[in-house]
Amino acid sequence: MDHDPRVLVAGATGYIGRNLAVALHEAGFRVRALARDPRRLEPIRDACDEVFVGAATRPETLTGLCDGVDAVVSSIGLRTLRAKPTPEQVDLGANLNILDRARQAGVGRFFFVSVLHAAELAQRVPILRPREEFTRRLVDSGTGWTVLRPTGAFNDMGEIFRLAGRGAGMVFGDGHHRINPVHPRDIGDLVAASIRDDTRRDTEFGFGGPDTYTAAEIVELAQQVLGRRRRVLHIPFWPVRALAAALRPVNRNAAGFLTFFGESLRRDMVGAPIGHRRLADYFAALAAGTDTESR
Ligand SMILES: NC(=O)c1ccc[n+]([C@@H]2O[C@H](COP(=O)([O-])OP(=O)(O)OC[C@H]3O[C@@H](n4cnc5c(N)ncnc54)[C@H](OP(=O)(O)O)[C@@H]3O)[C@@H](O)[C@H]2O)c1
Repeated sequence: MDHDPRVLVAGATGYIGRNLAVALHEAGFRVRALARDPRRLEPIRDACDEVFVGAATRPETLTGLCDGVDAVVSSIGLRTLRAKPTPEQVDLGANLNILDRARQAGVGRFFFVSVLHAAELAQRVPILRPREEFTRRLVDSGTGWTVLRPTGAFNDMGEIFRLAGRGAGMVFGDGHHRINPVHPRDIGDLVAASIRDDTRRDTEFGFGGPDTYTAAEIVELAQQVLGRRRRVLHIPFWPVRALAAALRPVNRNAAGFLTFFGESLRRDMVGAPIGHRRLADYFAALAAGTDTESR
């Protein structure tokens, strides 16, 4: 590349994308951030060299989105308990619209943020299928592709921390399943290195952070950082399944995310360790009120 490489971050208004944008900007890339509401980029405005205002679900708003772009990274995805829109519209449709623009502009690399073990989980978790369908379409697109499959990110562990702070130390099942949560800034560092070295092209990569814990150990870590030791309650899985079944006829998204939540807690979610950001430091920053990256 004979110019400052330019990366489009689609999803830059969300938790993962925000951190991708900051990591890529710090690594020396020109970051073009896609936003349907640019005010949502306020927390990372210094990292956004360019802002493209458009709605990924509406292709008519995306003209020129990828012009002059060397690589695209998309973390666009649905994480809502509201009934609409559907994952077909967002996880599949919005990402296909971006891929179309990338192909038209001749972009060399497309990184897609999926989920660890999603292909396997999708058999029992229908809400993951549109994301897997997009993965298939990306692989067949002729564009250089990388499917990133992180395990749970620090923000989800933050919810466990907040519950522990309210005295509610609990795990589902016996709490022995393992996970190595990852900081999304480390995902951004991985993308930056992979663009620079032209590595991880046309491949999938399942990964997590540097430290592996059981679910029970994460609750204990939160309690330790908070300086309070309480008995950890074990909640059975059946209420999650029952609630998902009750919600399914009226709200497919809420039912789908509950099912995903339940299924991902019933297995190990450990990927190849990357990065250096540690969960214990994140919990300490939450306790001190100094965390600025996960809001
Ligand atoms: N966070 C995790 O723990 C985690 C772990 C592993 C994998 N992932 C994957 O990463 C993806 C993103 O996660 P996240 O935590 O960053 O989610 P998030 O904070 O909810 O961000 C989602 C992004 O998608 C955009 N989006 C959602 N609905 C849209 C729509 N209808 N039209 C246009 N844009 C839309 C959002 O834009 P607006 O801001 O405009 O709504 C936002 O930029 C997930 O879907 C998941 O597959 C997440």
